[in-house]
Amino acid sequence: MNPIQIAIDGPASAGKSTIAKILATDLNFVYVDTGAMYRVVTLAAMRKNIVLQDETAVVAVLPDVNISFKPGNPVQRVFLNDEEVTTEIRSVDVTANVSVVSAYAAVRQAMTDIQRNIAADGGVVMDGRDIGTTVLPNAAVKIFLIASVHERAVRRFKENQAKGMDTTLEDLEAAIEKRDYLDSHRDISPLKKATDAIELDTTGLSITEVVDSVKHIIATK
Ligand code: C5P
Repeated sequence: MNPIQIAIDGPASAGKSTIAKILATDLNFVYVDTGAMYRVVTLAAMRKNIVLQDETAVVAVLPDVNISFKPGNPVQRVFLNDEEVTTEIRSVDVTANVSVVSAYAAVRQAMTDIQRNIAADGGVVMDGRDIGTTVLPNAAVKIFLIASVHERAVRRFKENQAKGMDTTLEDLEAAIEKRDYLDSHRDISPLKKATDAIELDTTGLSITEVVDSVKHIIATK
């Protein structure tokens, strides 16, 4: 397999990271969860008690934020400076605030620079919202994963239950719709299907079926 760049974008909880991680393992590629990076910046700002609507104050946090990943199962381990924040970045609070922070130009520029550096030599599966449109516009394979809001909320509900997180299905549906709206309507690099991306509706499909479909798409490239 040539060390190509594979971009997987789509709305919240569409299964991007699950699919991207399996693909990366099977292809022996590097997996980059760009959503985790925006979550780490959000957590760092929240810990400093910054009003997240204050763009200047949020951007001032960036020099103190060093993000790194380590392999882990079932999820990649994520670090803010030397501290593991894998679980904390998935909290209801961080999830509710991340779209505010990710809309800021300087935050996006800093994350995009890091992401392009990691992907420079190829052999990478990167998932997010703007990978096919902005971060890696020349990626050899671009997938846009979608699924109904209800199905995405049910998947997240089951995950949260397994983690012991107390959330209702209604709250999850509302949170997903709100985050999708904010991510799709921001000025810079909004969530959008790249014109050359292949859309895959995963509603009703198993993880294996989605992975097989993506592998089929890769094979035809
Ligand atoms: O993928 P995940 O749901 O963890 O992403 C969290 C948030 O990070 C998104 O809702 C979005 O606001 C932001 N994000 C982004 N661009 C990306 C990846 C994530 O703006 N490439």
